[in-house]
Amino acid sequence: MTNTERIGKLKKVHMLGAEDLGALLTTLSDGEEQALCDAACEVRREVYGRDVYLRGLIEFSSYCRNNCLYCGLRRGNAACQRYRLSEEEILECADRGYELGFRTIVLQSGEDPWYTDEKICRIVSRIKEKHPDSAVTLSIGEKSRESYQRYFDAGADRYLLRHETINAEHYSRLHPEEMSRDNRVRCLYDLKEIGYQVGCGIMVGSPFQTTEHIVEDLLFMKEFGPQMVGIGPFIPHQDTPFKDEKRGTLEDTLHLLAIVRLMLPRVLLPATTALGTIHPRGRELGILAGANVVMPNLSPSDVREKYMLYDGKICTGDEAAECRRCMERRIESTGYRVVVSRGDFRG
Ligand code: 5AD
Ligand code: SF4
Ligand code: FES
Repeated sequence: MTNTERIGKLKKVHMLGAEDLGALLTTLSDGEEQALCDAACEVRREVYGRDVYLRGLIEFSSYCRNNCLYCGLRRGNAACQRYRLSEEEILECADRGYELGFRTIVLQSGEDPWYTDEKICRIVSRIKEKHPDSAVTLSIGEKSRESYQRYFDAGADRYLLRHETINAEHYSRLHPEEMSRDNRVRCLYDLKEIGYQVGCGIMVGSPFQTTEHIVEDLLFMKEFGPQMVGIGPFIPHQDTPFKDEKRGTLEDTLHLLAIVRLMLPRVLLPATTALGTIHPRGRELGILAGANVVMPNLSPSDVREKYMLYDGKICTGDEAAECRRCMERRIESTGYRVVVSRGDFRG
């Protein structure tokens, strides 16, 4: 098959064999790259039109009990400035987000046991009580099935947990021994069975990643059937073991976004902050490669630079309202439009 035929087939049947996926990831000419992005945009337009959904991100704790080798919040990083937002502060951020037109609040943190299930449930249910027309997304890591069930019963709608890599050997090179690919996957299936809209995903260009790994990730995603997929470039952080590793590239990230859109036409796919960090128009280019979600930061300005997963993170000096406005302008410059809505998965 030629690349043009591969793109045509992917657009039609939303699936390709491993070898053809690998070829699309590695052998595209400039013209073919444009054709891939155009195909992704067309498929997305049939489901979601020109709408781009907003998620207001509250990074409520920079404490983490894990030690992922790539992440600036890892517990081994003594230089990381740690903070926790109080329940009231989180609720204020959520209210502010509502005023700014966000109808999804994403609560994200390191794995911080200080926030017991009881606390998380109370925060979720208070946000839902005050804003019943908003969705609440949790992104707080690996928990027991019972905990996931409690959050869901408290009103949480969605859960983001990137699988990072489906290859067990690769997983073990990115994480300390006490973490496993199997537990990660267990979490994802528990979340799905409970009834969440679930997001998985990977970093592009993480250390030791090969094209074959990415192909395995694509096949896993196709099988798992997530409602959301988070994809951004790996960016080294100076205080981690991966400080001298190369970052993922813009091109590789855009190719993968487009392929994910073509394989999972209905997926909610963010143009991530990491993509905006490696290129001044990274997020806009992400939208033009098939992404349809953006997640501006709602965290209080005084804690933003403390939530540093990787070096150079953008939007750390800006207020929630500034990011909201900035994002709207950026999206409009692509010919798409930001909408005020929950932006649920269209099943
Ligand atoms: N570069 C890019 N993304 C990162 N993440 C963590 N560390 C980095 C980094 N150095 C991503 C992981 C995690 C998500 C919250 O952030 O994929 O799941
Ligand atoms: Fe903690 Fe998440 Fe960073 Fe891993 S990626 S160290 S779990 S915040
Ligand atoms: Fe945050 Fe542009 S989106 S300043």
